[in-house]
Amino acid sequence: MRFIRTDVEIEGGRRLHLYDFPNPADQKQDAVWSGVAESWRRRAEFIESWLEPITTLSNEMLGPGTGRLLDLGCGAMTTPFPEGWKRVGVDLSQEMLRGGTGCVRGVMTRLPFRDQSFGAAASRLSLMFASDPLRAFEEVARVLQHGTKFVFSVWGDAGKNLWASEPAELLKARYGIPAPPPAAPGVFRLADEEEVRGMLKSAGFGDICCNKVAISLLAEISAEAAADAVLALGGPVSAVFGRLSETERAEFRVEMSKRLAAVDRSGAAFVWGAVLKRPIGRL
Ligand SMILES: C[S@@+](CC[C@H](N)C(=O)[O-])C[C@H]1O[C@@H](n2cnc3c(N)ncnc32)[C@H](O)[C@@H]1O
Repeated sequence: MRFIRTDVEIEGGRRLHLYDFPNPADQKQDAVWSGVAESWRRRAEFIESWLEPITTLSNEMLGPGTGRLLDLGCGAMTTPFPEGWKRVGVDLSQEMLRGGTGCVRGVMTRLPFRDQSFGAAASRLSLMFASDPLRAFEEVARVLQHGTKFVFSVWGDAGKNLWASEPAELLKARYGIPAPPPAAPGVFRLADEEEVRGMLKSAGFGDICCNKVAISLLAEISAEAAADAVLALGGPVSAVFGRLSETERAEFRVEMSKRLAAVDRSGAAFVWGAVLKRPIGRL
């Protein structure tokens, strides 16, 4: 991917062509998520059951509305939202957006929207993949109207999400492939409550609340089915798995199922809510 072209809306209903040259971290995320986009569409029903506790709580916190709702890192646009909102999705991966309507391609750290053009913002399990999460929060603050809500979810820490950390451990143990460093985009990048709270405050948000949610579906299905789902849907692990030989993949799948059979496969996420207190312009 050399650049992303986005048609940006400007005053008077006119459109501007914006060309963005994504940094290497964004390019990596594009490849990672484009690789699992088809699985996200095919397994949409499973995903909605798996993430249902997050979706239900997020939507309770968001509530119904009538304005434009930004869905940040919208993926295949399958997340349901409370009635009334006009959802506008943005995602880095063209493959994820394929076939979706009301969505544009773009990066969270430079949103292709006008200042104060949304009445709410939401994001399900995407912000930890931003190349610079603070910058992403500042961008959300820029496009939100003063006094409006931002509700988003992120995964909790590795010890509480063994369904994700065990496969990463196994890749390291078997093939010497390390997990991303803590400050790099990744599943657990926003698992530190205090850090996220600090970023939200610094971006101009107040009335901040953080709720912990248990996600149990992977513990209720067999370890083999859980391994299969994680390999099909987990962008980062799937990207590495795809680079192994056929024999290695078969061995890895068996070993991963064994590991997942021996641990608690339920997960833990945070659902954050905040209100924009201070409008800021593009820096
Ligand atoms: C775990 S998926 C979640 C998708 C969707 N929110 C859902 O719950 O169905 C993460 C999504 O974030 C997108 N993403 C990752 N980094 C991004 C970035 N820097 N800017 C915009 N989207 C990004 C990926 O392409 C992917 O679609």
